[in-house]
Amino acid sequence: MNLTLSTTTYSRLLILSAVSGACAVILFLTLVSGRQTLPVMSSCLPAFRDGGGPYYKPDSPFRTRIVPAGTEGKPMIIKGVVLSSDCSRSVPGAVIDIWQANESGSYEDEWYRGQVTADAEGNYEFETVMPRGYGEGTGYRPPHIHFKVFADGREIVTSQMFFDDVRGREGFSDEYIVNLDDKPEQLIGTHHIVLPDFP
Ligand SMILES: [Fe+2]
Repeated sequence: MNLTLSTTTYSRLLILSAVSGACAVILFLTLVSGRQTLPVMSSCLPAFRDGGGPYYKPDSPFRTRIVPAGTEGKPMIIKGVVLSSDCSRSVPGAVIDIWQANESGSYEDEWYRGQVTADAEGNYEFETVMPRGYGEGTGYRPPHIHFKVFADGREIVTSQMFFDDVRGREGFSDEYIVNLDDKPEQLIGTHHIVLPDFP
C-alpha cells in the first residue's frame, strides 16, 4: 500500500487537525469556565447558630481590612467560600459581617469589625490580626471571630470561627476552626462557611 500523501492532501490534513484542536480547546474552556470548582469539604457541617453576644454593632463599614493602620501583630488574611447547606453550590454576593476582639482581648467601637461581600463565586476575604482570648476561669473565651452572614436580603446565621488552640477540645468541632498557614509575612487562614437551612 502506498501511504505517501500529496502535498495538498497533507496540508488539508494539517488544517483539519488544527481546526479540530482549536475546537476542542474552546469546548474545554467553555466547560471549565461554566463550572465552578467548589472546595473539597471533609464534612459539610453548617455553621452553628450563636446568639452574637454584646459586642455586635449593625451597619459596620464595608472594608476588607478591619484593623487600623499601624496595628501590631502579624497580618492575618481570612478567606473562604460561602456555601449552601449541602455544599453543592456557593452563595455569590453573600455579605459577611465580622467583629472580633483586638490583640489585647478587647472589643473596640470603630475597628476590628467590618463587612465584606462574597464575589461571583462565593469567595470572601478580609485582613485582620489574631484576636486574643478574654475572660477568666470558666468564663474564658478562646480567640474567635464572630460573624453574621446575610444572603437573599435576610440574615441567615450568626456564628463564630475559632483557631487551633481549641482543636480537639470538647464542644469545638474542628470544622469551626480556621485552617491557618503561617507564612513569613502573614497568616493565611481558610474557613469555608456552610449556611444552615440555605438550600
Ligand atoms: Fe467574642
